[in-house]
Amino acid sequence: MGHEVDRVLIERDRIAQRVREMGRRLAVDLERDLAGEGHEGHDHPDRVVLVPVLTGAMVFGADLIREMPVRMSIRLVAVSSYPGEATRSVGARLRSALPPDLAGRHVVIVDDILDSGQTLALLEEMVMEQGPASFRACVLLRKDVARKAEPTVEYVGFDIPDEFVVGYGLDYNGFYRNLPDIVTLREVK
Ligand code: IMP
Ligand code: MG
Repeated sequence: MGHEVDRVLIERDRIAQRVREMGRRLAVDLERDLAGEGHEGHDHPDRVVLVPVLTGAMVFGADLIREMPVRMSIRLVAVSSYPGEATRSVGARLRSALPPDLAGRHVVIVDDILDSGQTLALLEEMVMEQGPASFRACVLLRKDVARKAEPTVEYVGFDIPDEFVVGYGLDYNGFYRNLPDIVTLREVK
């Protein structure tokens, strides 16, 4: 028994267009915060930190940052909640330490998909403990499910039905991350 691609849910051009819109909006909102502090454009040292959640957000994060004309640094965090062949979250576990220097900075967590909510709830709690200047979470996809946790997620690319999806960074058992479209899988016997 294995899996094969069932159907394309979101095609690559639609993803690209939406990522562009999200990047611009994030940049505008961050610029507003920076202007409130008396900074403009690139005149600040290190105010904005983007934190993509590995491994799923590597593709989205790579595209998103290139749509954001804001001075920023990038830190990574690794979280796993779907080990191996699981298609249901087993609860979020941190696989690497959160960057320790987020205090006083504008922090943007970037993840591929909001499902049970546990990953982002955990990260939100841990970032807030450090006392950032602001906190934002941004996801490409949000699944239509009853969530175990309701993290604050202000930026959402697409709302999708409760189906397991892969591609554009999302995996099943480590594979399919390199597909350019977001697709559903079907089991084959
Ligand atoms: P949550 O903690 O349940 O919200 O899970 C979020 C994480 O689970 C995401 O960062 C993804 O890595 C993974 N995930 C959730 N749904 C899917 C899916 O449909 N396909 C692939 N990975 C998923
Ligand atoms: Mg993930």
